[in-house]
Amino acid sequence: MSDLLHIAVSPMGENSISRAIDASFMAAFNEKYPNAEIITHDLATENIPHLDGEAIFAGYTPEADRTPTAAAKHNYRLGLIKEVNEAKHIMISTPMWNFSVPSALKAWIDQIIIPGAVKVSGKVTVIISQGGSYAPGAPREGWDFESGLLARTFESIEAKDVKVILAEFGLAGVVPGMESFVENKAASAAAAKAEAVVRAIAE
Ligand SMILES: Cc1cc2nc3c(=O)[nH]c(=O)nc-3n(C[C@H](O)[C@H](O)[C@H](O)COP(=O)(O)O)c2cc1C
Repeated sequence: MSDLLHIAVSPMGENSISRAIDASFMAAFNEKYPNAEIITHDLATENIPHLDGEAIFAGYTPEADRTPTAAAKHNYRLGLIKEVNEAKHIMISTPMWNFSVPSALKAWIDQIIIPGAVKVSGKVTVIISQGGSYAPGAPREGWDFESGLLARTFESIEAKDVKVILAEFGLAGVVPGMESFVENKAASAAAAKAEAVVRAIAE
């Protein structure tokens, strides 16, 4: 049983917006729960393997008939699943990459979903930093395939309380042509940090 399962994804270190919001969440969480048990996976440094055929097939094979490598791959999945099932709160911070989740996060998702074995019992908070905006009226309204993917994924494994916190316009001031959105970027990040703090300490 952990108080928090914390998954951080961005490889951008100090320059990462999702990690800055993540840090606000963690500071508030640690202040409120100084003795909390926290499990962290930093997917920028920890390589979660892509699910392969042997790992999938192991799930369909009786335990006694699994080869040692198949058993190891299946048990690795069960270890990650235990963390998910037993966390009181799961917090994920991630960039948007190519309208969806970075493959490092998708690899973790594919590892943890074994129908019948995984069942979220706590709440879920997803922090996403996007380069642009996909809000109503934006030129690419409807192109955010990440927020819904993550919310539906956790709902599919019975999460009852899923909150997505978005920071928009992360590329303003970074790529040419988005200068006019620099203020929106700062406001969006500040609002996301405030939301993250509220979420971290909510009972
Ligand atoms: C490989 C890559 C793909 C990206 N794809 C998108 C995209 O499809 N849509 C978008 O709005 N921003 C995109 N971005 C911009 C990031 O979402 C943005 O910089 C965000 O702040 C990244 O989060 P981070 O600062 O926590 O790393 C992409 C950035 C990278 C590096």
